[in-house]
Amino acid sequence: MSKITQTLRKIECANEMKEVSLLFHAEGKKIGFVPTMGALHAGHFSLLEKSLNENDITICSIYVNPTQFTDKRDFENYPITLNDDLEKLKDLGVDVAFCPTYAEMYPDSYRFKLTEAEFSRTLCGEHRPDHFDGVLTIVMKLFQIVQPKNAYFGEKDYQQLLLIQDMANAFFLDVTVVPCPTLREVDGLAMSSRNRLLKPEDRAQAPVFFKALKSDEPSDKITEELKAQGFEVDYVQETKGRRFGAVKLGNVRLIDNVEL
Ligand code: PAJ
Repeated sequence: MSKITQTLRKIECANEMKEVSLLFHAEGKKIGFVPTMGALHAGHFSLLEKSLNENDITICSIYVNPTQFTDKRDFENYPITLNDDLEKLKDLGVDVAFCPTYAEMYPDSYRFKLTEAEFSRTLCGEHRPDHFDGVLTIVMKLFQIVQPKNAYFGEKDYQQLLLIQDMANAFFLDVTVVPCPTLREVDGLAMSSRNRLLKPEDRAQAPVFFKALKSDEPSDKITEELKAQGFEVDYVQETKGRRFGAVKLGNVRLIDNVEL
């Protein structure tokens, strides 16, 4: 049966989502899960396509998680395009869109949180304190509710991907974390929900960031060159066989990484 003919089910309640997932399990169905913050683009779709190919059921969550934002303005400006997102999920043949509220996800008002004490303090974590506590906590909550066999994460957010893989191992979770390659615009800019917030002149400048990360220059030289070209640089740093970077153009923060 074509997946396209199935209807998308939208669920907002955490208990209902968990019940539905348990029913899928009882039917012997393998659940693939793609957590997102919405404003969906081709990068997200590539994760969803992989999940659709590898599982019986695909669940996509759309939730802009406030606890992972260190900057209130960044949270308030985060793009929301829910109706378009749901249309696209329907077209792709996704089975369930889980779109919870804060009250559903944080009945404890964030009294309980998950912390990683080493790698999460480096790179993005050094510039966005508590960011990864928020990410790990929400992903753990989502895993408990959705109960996936496979969960799909993009290499675009490589530090996040590694931390979630390590969390799944540390807590003996029965979830396989599947890494997915970074999708880019034709000019090399990594696709991101935040790209649509770039002013036209900043959008034209943004691909310089990826080109600089790929260059053979050492990281400190790349930092200087990016600054000279109008970027505010949080960091350019090599670790774990990759070069990681985070920059700002206007108020918009871009992150990327390349294999060395
Ligand atoms: P979000 O930024 O919406 O990204 C959702 C997933 O899509 C992440 O796994 C991310 O790495 C992946 N992704 C984003 N852009 C991509 C691209 N250009 N190519 C490939 N994959 C891409 O990451 C988050 O949301 C949140 O932190 C979340 C995990 C949902 C927790 O709130």
